[in-house]
Amino acid sequence: MFYHPSERDHGLPHDPLKAIVAPRPIGWISSQDSEGRLNLAPYSFFNLVADRPPIVMFSSYGRKDSVRNVEETGEFVCNLTTYDLREAVNATSAGLAHGESEFDAAGLATEASALVKPPRIAGVAAALECRYLKSDVLVGLDGQRSSNIIVYGEIVGCFIRDDLIVDGRFDMTAARTIARCGYMDYATVESLFVMHRPAGGGG
Ligand SMILES: Cc1cc2nc3c(=O)[nH]c(=O)nc-3n(C[C@H](O)[C@H](O)[C@H](O)COP(=O)(O)O)c2cc1C
Repeated sequence: MFYHPSERDHGLPHDPLKAIVAPRPIGWISSQDSEGRLNLAPYSFFNLVADRPPIVMFSSYGRKDSVRNVEETGEFVCNLTTYDLREAVNATSAGLAHGESEFDAAGLATEASALVKPPRIAGVAAALECRYLKSDVLVGLDGQRSSNIIVYGEIVGCFIRDDLIVDGRFDMTAARTIARCGYMDYATVESLFVMHRPAGGGG
């Protein structure tokens, strides 16, 4: 089959696009507003987009609380989503009123970050402490400003739970990282395979 994503003329019960560009890592973003009120929400339009300097992005459909907080206070934390916390990941996507904490609603405790004010989730496998760089509003081929806002931040600190460092590597199969797969589907990292790059395949 072939279809035009902007026209959504796929004729299928659900849009397949997010199942094709998958699995997508989930940034579980903790942030605070200028009054220190906590916020936590999952974003699967999320990725590490550079490593020198280390930069992450997440994309929000509309100016959601995470975007407002990060723009207001300049800091956020990307908590790693793992299978043991899957229900809490989902629960924290509920649309609570601004200032109401998803930590409380999902029964999650906080643990202080080392370098930024927003805390990480207590017991989380890994967390990236970030400082805000900039926001971009996406413009499509039609020249119209869309409702999608991309927030970029530089990772200034990286927390890893000590038990997940095995033979000098972060053990993501032990962490059981989860990722978004479109529809209501998720994937867990259960196995890895190794390939070595050809000469010159740097970066
Ligand atoms: C796994 C998962 C991934 C999500 N990814 C996104 C995303 O990339 N962008 C977005 O705008 N909303 C996404 N959502 C919905 C937001 O989490 C939801 O709108 C949330 O209430 C936003 O919270 P906030 O207003 O506190 O930032 C996702 C939800 C789930 C469960």
